[in-house]
Amino acid sequence: MLRIDKLTKRFGEKIAVDSATLDIDKPCMIGIIGRSGAGKSTLLRMLNRLEDASGGRILFDGREVTGLKGRDRRAWQSDCAMIFQQFNLVPRMDVVSNVLHGTLNRRNAMATLFNLYPMDDIHKAIDILDRLGIAEHAAKRAEALSGGQQQRVAIARALMQDPKIILADEPIASLDPMNAQTVMEALRRIHEEDGRTVIANLHTLDTARRYCDRVVGMRDGRIVFDGLPEQLTTGVAREIYGAGEEFSEAATSTEIETLEKTDARRAAIPAE
Ligand SMILES: Nc1ncnc2c1ncn2[C@@H]1O[C@H](COP(=O)(O)OP(=O)(O)OP(=O)(O)O)[C@@H](O)[C@H]1O
Ligand SMILES: [Mg+2]
Repeated sequence: MLRIDKLTKRFGEKIAVDSATLDIDKPCMIGIIGRSGAGKSTLLRMLNRLEDASGGRILFDGREVTGLKGRDRRAWQSDCAMIFQQFNLVPRMDVVSNVLHGTLNRRNAMATLFNLYPMDDIHKAIDILDRLGIAEHAAKRAEALSGGQQQRVAIARALMQDPKIILADEPIASLDPMNAQTVMEALRRIHEEDGRTVIANLHTLDTARRYCDRVVGMRDGRIVFDGLPEQLTTGVAREIYGAGEEFSEAATSTEIETLEKTDARRAAIPAE
């Protein structure tokens, strides 16, 4: 289905993603973990063609995605919808209109200019919101909703494109635990009920273990682990995060980064 073959991204001297290879042969829910700067976002951005690869290939159902241009590239971007940590909604616009924005790729300029949406699309948007448990907020401004509700609006907008793949870049990193749970459950249901593949960058190990069928670990741009959640032992996690004995299972990638900086600072202070 989806094949990522030696995908590489360089920013000048820096190799952000280093020959990443990944085969997805059936719809599944994949969690990508790794410390800050490991290359997780860059990998997703290349998949969605927001970022061009410096090397390697992406194939979907045997078709090369890496070289698509213009309309074909936009069609691919509809097939693999992306959601972000910061939701990227239009805050002052109502919820339904935000969701309908997901159809922009296939609407003509005049209709877009006058904010005209076909009735079918409006019904579809409301059905999707209903499915995600937020239809009652359809007429409110996006900014009036909680973070978890806003992220579900972003998911609804993605679903409007009827994507085969949903790419989520740290979808719950700004949410409290309750909201994080509803969002992860929504993504899981979309995978199970619709058979869509979900690939999510996650900043905690627990979330990856709990919701994903497969976990990919990245370190310094390379894929260093690809396996089942149960294979992700504390030892393996330490390897992925490049952390020592002090590594805590509950830590987030950001915390690990801070921890190491503090350690480095402590190490720089001579002992008394
Ligand atoms: N546009 C860019 N220009 C230059 N360097 C970049 C750019 N985007 C990313 N990088 C670098 O590439 C590396 C990987 O970044 P990336 O954002 O993919 O990491 P990440 O795993 O998503 O980290 P985080 O957990 O902090 O989101 C980092 O060293 C980063 O500084
Ligand atoms: Mg990132």
